Amino acid sequence: MDHLDLVRRQFGANATNYATSPVHAKGASLARLVDELHPDPDWRVLDIATAAGHTAFAVAPHVNEVIATDVTPEMLAVARTGAAERALTNITFEPADAEALPFDAASFDAATCRIAPHHFPRPPRFVAEVARVLRSGGVFGLVDNVVPDDLVAARFANDWEQRRDPSHVRCLSLDEWLALLTASGLAIRHAELLAKRMAFVAWVDNMDVAPELRADLLHALETAPQPATEFLRPELGAPGDQDAAAFHLTECIVVAVKG
Ligand SMILES: C[S@@+](CC[C@H](N)C(=O)[O-])C[C@H]1O[C@@H](n2cnc3c(N)ncnc32)[C@H](O)[C@@H]1O
Repeated sequence: MDHLDLVRRQFGANATNYATSPVHAKGASLARLVDELHPDPDWRVLDIATAAGHTAFAVAPHVNEVIATDVTPEMLAVARTGAAERALTNITFEPADAEALPFDAASFDAATCRIAPHHFPRPPRFVAEVARVLRSGGVFGLVDNVVPDDLVAARFANDWEQRRDPSHVRCLSLDEWLALLTASGLAIRHAELLAKRMAFVAWVDNMDVAPELRADLLHALETAPQPATEFLRPELGAPGDQDAAAFHLTECIVVAVKG
């Protein structure tokens, strides 16, 4: 199956979950991203892979206009409803692939993309597209889950995530992101890492994971190699107790400016 079809299958079937998912709707990175963007009331902003629209909703009150985009039609429908419920009238919603943005060069003052690039097969193409659509001096705010430099931990975290969600491609490390952004002519203005606690059941519920796979994923966490447990910092109850299980992911928040 084509990767974008896989994304649409995963997120189309689970679109409404993302409207209420706490890490997406209320995660600390949302406010941090808006703070570090330093939004301007005149800005035209592109939100890439908007899903249920949380980043677009957070940015919209601070700018003139937001174009919120995604490849999954069901997600755009959920986001449109969310904008109407919040009476946000300066957001429009359009289908768009992050790696082939259907917008003119230099047509945005800022772009955002939060907790989504780990689904993109070609991150360099995505970053090049962001750089292309930003005007000179335009600002890019990126938030994504990252992996540590340790290869054992990085491989475990990415493989484990891909078993939960087959549309997961790869979380990069912060250093990889900084190198990619710089290579596309974006100068790093801010970079930070932020830990987030993930309840195991909410994590598997978001993708409506089958019962047998839920048990396998918890067992994998319970028996993870040491570098992975140092990274994920699991909180475990009795073996197999899904309700008691939690772990931690790490997000990067990076703001970069086009030269
Ligand atoms: C976890 S959600 C994003 C969360 C959202 N940005 C937020 O802040 O709440 C991931 C989204 O990425 C979208 N997506 C995945 N691959 C994409 C691509 N190549 N181009 C655009 N959107 C994509 C999916 O359809 C899904 O809606």
